[in-house]
Amino acid sequence: MLEMLETRTSMPALQLSDPAPSSEELERILSAGLTAPDHAAMRPWRFITIQGDARNKLGEVFAIAAKKDNPNTPDEKIARIRQKPLRSPLIVVIVATITENHPKTPEIEQILSAGAATTLIQLAATASGFGSIWLSGPNAYLPDVKAALGVAEKDQIVGYLYMGTPMKPAAAKKRPPLSEHLSAWHEPVT
Ligand SMILES: Cc1cc2nc3c(=O)[nH]c(=O)nc-3n(C[C@H](O)[C@H](O)[C@H](O)COP(=O)(O)O)c2cc1C
Repeated sequence: MLEMLETRTSMPALQLSDPAPSSEELERILSAGLTAPDHAAMRPWRFITIQGDARNKLGEVFAIAAKKDNPNTPDEKIARIRQKPLRSPLIVVIVATITENHPKTPEIEQILSAGAATTLIQLAATASGFGSIWLSGPNAYLPDVKAALGVAEKDQIVGYLYMGTPMKPAAAKKRPPLSEHLSAWHEPVT
């Protein structure tokens, strides 16, 4: 388990091919997201799966939203945007479902919980032998994309988890030294 955590790496979406997880495998992978730390048991997450021809429809949604957002976007770029969902056999959209003005749990904590769910799902995918990558970009924020996915304006798409079978083993990645990110606190900073 520790070795898996220490060596986890994302895979480029284009290097994720069929097969996607079966429905039984996917249920288990997504269920890992339900263990996300969650202040006040709000369950502020929703997972949306997109597979098969629905990926073409999502590509069309991305393309139309990009053109509307910036009508000067060149046609070649719009064509590339339309192809994006076709890179991998499965996409899981992770949504933070926001309760505004919650007495205990500010919005950032709800978004963090959805982020934790995303990581847990990604780790469960790794543990099940699948590759994945967490992507965002404008499609996480454009109102027309959110609306087409049935995501309320107040809610937040925290990411698109592209998932599939790695075409080749992930190359080992060099990680930063822990010392660059760690300090021990002993007394108030004056
Ligand atoms: C919220 C979030 C959004 C991200 N969006 C993108 C993205 O749009 N494009 C991208 O190339 N990487 C994105 N990443 C980074 C990749 O998921 C991945 O972490 C990165 O390629 C480094 O690979 P590693 O996870 O193996 O270290 C995002 C990560 C997070 C946490």
